[in-house]
Amino acid sequence: MSAKTLLNVQSSGRVNGSITRETSQILINRLTGETEMQVIERDLNTGLPFVDEQWIGANFTDPEARDPHQHEVLALSDSLVKEVKQADILVLGVPVYNFNVPAVLKAWIDMICRARETFRYTENGPEGLLKGKKAYLVMASGGVPIGSEWDHASRYLKQVLGFIGITDVTVIDATQLGDDKSEALARIISKQSTQAA
Ligand SMILES: Cc1cc2nc3c(=O)[nH]c(=O)nc-3n(C[C@H](O)[C@H](O)[C@H](O)COP(=O)(O)O)c2cc1C
Repeated sequence: MSAKTLLNVQSSGRVNGSITRETSQILINRLTGETEMQVIERDLNTGLPFVDEQWIGANFTDPEARDPHQHEVLALSDSLVKEVKQADILVLGVPVYNFNVPAVLKAWIDMICRARETFRYTENGPEGLLKGKKAYLVMASGGVPIGSEWDHASRYLKQVLGFIGITDVTVIDATQLGDDKSEALARIISKQSTQAA
């Protein structure tokens, strides 16, 4: 059996002292310690472009009919989609910013939700195409309780990941793991694998 692939997507604007980055790394160490895995790093800290007129025009043009410029416009989005498709496991570092996800993480979502690539329209409505993947949302806030009605970030991410087919989503509040985060995360992982078995 070939090694699994883990995609690590980090969105905190902080590089030093970031709770979501540190906790995600501990989680990844635990996951890769148990099974051999290839890890793809996608740090959103340096920013992503927003969708604009050219991007929308290219995306809504049939792939066979796209001109070279349109392929160029979609190149980054294509790479991001490829990374998500490759991944068996996604780890998303998610600080709560103004009750929701950081803008750069929303920009990433806009780049990976692509008709025909990650979802499609059927007679019964939209269908997510990324089946069989597992996602961990490693979250932190400065006061808004994760999972409460004030936390629009975890609810939104679960909805949009489900839309593209990723329905197995575990939300981890990195601020509530106690002193031994590694042990607490190991317990969460083992609970997940027991439930999946
Ligand atoms: C721009 C910005 C907006 C924030 N908005 C919220 C918020 O709406 N609610 C909240 O509880 N914490 C908020 N915080 C606090 C962060 O969620 C908290 O510091 C968290 O630890 C950040 O994640 P990090 O440590 O990985 O950078 C905000 C922080 C920043 C920088």
